Amino acid sequence: MKTFKRLTLSSAVLFFLSWFLLAAGDTCHAQQLDVPYVSTPHSVVEAMLNVARVGPGDYVIDLGSGDGRIVIAAAQRGAFGHGVDLNPERVTEAAQNAVSAGVSERVQFLEGDLFEADISRATVITLYLFQHVNLSLKPTLFEQLKPGTRIVSHDFSMGRWEADEHVREDNRDVYYWIIPADIRGRWEWSVDGENFIMDVQQDFQKISVKLSKGNKKLQVRDPAVAGERVSFLAEDPQDAKRYAFSARADGDSITGIMHITSGRTTRVENWNAKLRIR
Ligand SMILES: C[S@@+](CC[C@H](N)C(=O)[O-])C[C@H]1O[C@@H](n2cnc3c(N)ncnc32)[C@H](O)[C@@H]1O
Repeated sequence: MKTFKRLTLSSAVLFFLSWFLLAAGDTCHAQQLDVPYVSTPHSVVEAMLNVARVGPGDYVIDLGSGDGRIVIAAAQRGAFGHGVDLNPERVTEAAQNAVSAGVSERVQFLEGDLFEADISRATVITLYLFQHVNLSLKPTLFEQLKPGTRIVSHDFSMGRWEADEHVREDNRDVYYWIIPADIRGRWEWSVDGENFIMDVQQDFQKISVKLSKGNKKLQVRDPAVAGERVSFLAEDPQDAKRYAFSARADGDSITGIMHITSGRTTRVENWNAKLRIR
């Protein structure tokens, strides 16, 4: 445990030290930069792409892309993507590295401010910034990204938004999140003439669910939202009917199926819930 703390600290100290050295030596760009240029070790790049399961079909955006290594490694796995960096020298270097790696048709590097970037097409966002920069970026991530979009950050967390996964590689932290659908509020649906009302409270990917059928309260277990997928189990304590709900949330609709088990019989019904109050 002591070793862990010492290594984490020294990694952070190195990061801050390079920020001051850069600020002193490169006044032209450093004054505008929110984060200095320090590259992610290749082993950590691979760990980031592994935890986010990056592959063909993905579009990866690295915010503060440095020499382009993360987007280039993603392209080598069959993804497309682009990087954004405020420093034009880094943008030129990244484009040259993409040519050398033979992936220049799959990637682009754009000069710009990461806070102003259009990131809406990303399936994966990668970050190696500071904690306070992650926190400033968080509202933009929730505004622009579709539920299910994956985010990976090297060394810096998102504060109160706990990671869905956390791995260590080469003494570095790698944090992974999935943008959850917003399912807060009251939802209603009917099956076989029975009216269900569901009240959902949500704190990022953590949800609590209260469910009633007619005027009876059901007992709910294992509520979860992962990207746009919603699931939970419920039981009617009076008639011992058990329910397994699984569906996709899309704006003010949740659409999927419910398994209803009574004794030894299970049947499947469609589950179409409508948002009534947020
Ligand atoms: C720690 S480096 C990370 C480089 C690369 N993502 C990696 O992991 O190897 C941070 C990068 O962010 C860039 N940067 C800093 N502030 C920025 C901003 N406001 N907009 C865009 N890029 C920025 C810096 O120029 C630098 O290349």
